[in-house]
Order: sequence, then structure tokens, then C-alpha cells
Amino acid sequence: MFRWTKPIVFAAALGVAGVVSAEQDASGKTGLGRAATPAEVAAWDIDVRSDFKGLPKGSGTVDQGELIWESTCATCHGTFAESNLFFPPLIGGTTEEDIETGRVASLTSPTQSVRTTIMKAISVSTLWDYIRRAMPWDNPKSLNDDEVYAVLAYLLNLADIVDYDFTLSDETIQQVQERMPNRNGAVFWEGLWRVDGEPDTHNTACMSDCLDEVVVSSTLPDHARNAHGDLAAQMRIVGPVRGVNALEPPLAGSIEDNIDAVRQHARATLDAAALTADGAAGSSVSSEETEAVTALLNDNGCLACHARDTKVLGPSYLEIYSRYGDGDDTGALVQKILNGGSGVWGPVPMPPHPNLSEADAERMVAWILDGAPQ
Ligand code: HEC
Ligand code: HEC
Repeated sequence: MFRWTKPIVFAAALGVAGVVSAEQDASGKTGLGRAATPAEVAAWDIDVRSDFKGLPKGSGTVDQGELIWESTCATCHGTFAESNLFFPPLIGGTTEEDIETGRVASLTSPTQSVRTTIMKAISVSTLWDYIRRAMPWDNPKSLNDDEVYAVLAYLLNLADIVDYDFTLSDETIQQVQERMPNRNGAVFWEGLWRVDGEPDTHNTACMSDCLDEVVVSSTLPDHARNAHGDLAAQMRIVGPVRGVNALEPPLAGSIEDNIDAVRQHARATLDAAALTADGAAGSSVSSEETEAVTALLNDNGCLACHARDTKVLGPSYLEIYSRYGDGDDTGALVQKILNGGSGVWGPVPMPPHPNLSEADAERMVAWILDGAPQ
């Protein structure tokens, strides 16, 4: 949160740009920060509005867009923007009639389960703006303006809004807007937008014989109970919501009576000892080897970032074990330890270990994948 000291507000009110006060506020802090430079403001001020205010000059063809699409977008969204691997499909589900009416008819159909981006977009400016600021997802803002025009032209062609020889530009974009399939689809909810308008709910307050407390709960139908494995093992054990033990029949009794059982089962799903027992039972690593590997981990500084049962900077050995089990990932894990890397457990990288021998890294991995016996 920003906190403005009084002198800064005063300076701003006078229109004195760039003044930073060295005076202290009540908390004893000195005036922090500085005025943003015009270049910083320009880099941040990139929105394109539905009347195309903010749209830079430029152009791109469907053909050019196809090349960009294939090399930068198709891996996630599919060759024809039809994939639902990462996100609902971008294109599909609109008809020639929708383009005419400006209202995607199937949006109101109860049998239409997939809603693509082009079915919902009211304004082509939103797509232009979004692609420029946020895509490709793994490298946002890497496209220049002409490339944004081109790749959008390609998408619009896939949606039959423009022909294959169309050039999308700041001058032709208005024509596109007039063919957006859902351009007339915006609705205005009075109660949400106008504080002085009528609310859009019609609740009446209970004035007599009212419930003291409303308990909201849900039930799992029998046929769905174990459809996705043990739900308790997939939920956090903090916070108000617990998963049920879906491997057992439903608990009889009131919510209060069941709380302990649910909580206990949730804890058991996290119990490191349970994992150890599992790992140690079939353990093929001898206790001498365990001792030797523990010394290696210590000597090579692994313990600064990894503990057996708890996450430190890196995942715990038991977490690594439960992810890879005794599968055949040894080679990859050895290379990861030697070369470092990130992204499997989060953005924090593991540094490389150039002085560690491959043989020692293999012993470490063998021990981890054996359930990190103690
Ligand atoms: C690494 C995967 C990935 C790549 C590559 C990628 N996208 Fe996306 N795209 C996503 C994800 C994930 C979302 C949803 C993001 C969100 O909602 O926060 C998305 C959303 C979108 C949306 C908005 C959909 C909506 O209805 O809100 C558009 C348009 C889009 N991408 C276009 C592109 C274009 C054009 C490219 C290539 C320049 C591209 N994407 C490359 C993963 C990717
Ligand atoms: C400076 C901190 C740090 C040190 C030191 C460190 N690690 Fe890591 N380690 C991490 C982080 C962070 C990750 C998660 C990386 C990721 O998300 O890909 C990780 C991941 C791992 C993984 C799992 C890799 C995967 O792909 O899932 C193994 C196995 C591992 N470390 C073993 C070791 C061993 C053995 C050592 C000592 C030779 C060591 N680490 C030293 C921080 C460290």
C-alpha cells in the first residue's frame, strides 16, 4: 500500500512535479520514492480502449500472423486456436449469422458447454490490448505492434471475420469491430453499476422466528464419492474447508461430531512418518549407506536448502520422494542436481553443483528415491 506523507501531497497539489520530501511522517520514515519519469509512465500507459484510443499505428497480414502463431502461440492454444489444453479455446463456436446480428446465439443455450474467447469478446480492442500486454504467456510484451496486428489478423481469419488476404491496421480495425460476432452482447446490470439504482437482489430481512445461525454445507453423492481419489489428501488442513476421506463411507453424525475424525484423517495424509514407514519398509539402502549419504549431503551443502521432512528453500526429501517414488527419473534428477534449475517446485532455482561427482549425486538420488530412510 502507498502511504503519502503530507508534504508530498502538498507538493502534488501545487503541481510541483518531482518534488520528494525529506521530511519525516508520523512513523519516522523519510519521504520515499520519486516521481515517475515520462518514459516510465509511457511504458505503463498502454491500454487500448474500445474507441481505439491508445491504439498505436501499425499493420499486419493474416499470412504474417500465421507464422507468428505457429512459432509463438500454437504450442499452448493449438494450430487453429482450438486447443483447451491451457485455456478454453480462443476460436470456434460462432456462426455467419452471429456476425450479422452481433450477438452469439449459442451463449444463451444451456447445451453450449464451451465458451471460446471469440464468442464472448465484445470489442476487438480488448483482444489487441490483451495480446500485446499478456501474450505469449511465457514471454509477455515480446511482440512488437505490427506482430500484434498480424497475429490478431490470423485469429480473426480463423473465426471467419476477415478474409485470408486481409491486412489488419489501425485504419481497418473499425471494420473488424463491425463484424465482431458478439459486439452487441454487452449487458448493463443497473444494480451493480449505479449505487443510487435498484439493487439486483430481492432479499427480505427475516423479522421473526429467524434462524440463529445459517450453516452452509454440501454433500457428495455416493456415485461421485471416490471419483477423484481421497479428497482429504488434496485439501489444505488449515482454513475452514476440509476434504472428506473419500475412500471410506460417509461419516454419520453432526458436523461438530465429525470434525475430529475429518481433521485426524487430513493430518494423516500429511504424516511424514507414514511415508517413511512406507519408504523404509521396502528400503534397499543399507543403514551404512544412509549414514554415508547423510554425510555427503552435509559436506555438499544440500542441507542448507533441503531437510528431510520440511520444505526449506527447496522441497523436502520426502516431498521429492513422494513425487517421483521409485520411478525411473534417476538420470534426470542427477543431472538437475549437477546442473541446477528451477520451475518444477516453483520459481526459486537450485544452483548447480559443479564440484559434485556424478557417482555421488547418484547415491544421493538413490537414497531419496528409497524414501530417504533415517
Ligand atoms: C505458454 C502457454 C501460452 C502461450 C505460448 C500463449 N498463450 Fe495465450 N493464453 C495462455 C493462458 C494460460 C491464457 C489464460 C491466461 C489467464 O487467464 O490468466 C491465455 C490467454 C490468451 C488469450 C485471452 C483469452 C481470454 O478469453 O481471456 C488470448 C487472446 C491469447 N491467449 C492469445 C495468445 C497469442 C496471440 C499467443 C502468441 C503470441 C499466445 N496466446 C501464446 C497460454 C499461452
Ligand atoms: C541454494 C539452495 C539449494 C541447494 C544448496 C540445493 N538445492 Fe536442491 N533444490 C533447491 C530448489 C529451490 C529446488 C527446486 C527446484 C525446482 O523447482 O526445479 C531443488 C530441487 C531439488 C531436487 C528435485 C529436483 C526436481 O527436478 O524435482 C533434488 C533431487 C535436489 N534438489 C537435491 C539436492 C541435492 C542432493 C543437493 C546437494 C548436492 C541440493 N539439492 C542442493 C535448492 C537447493
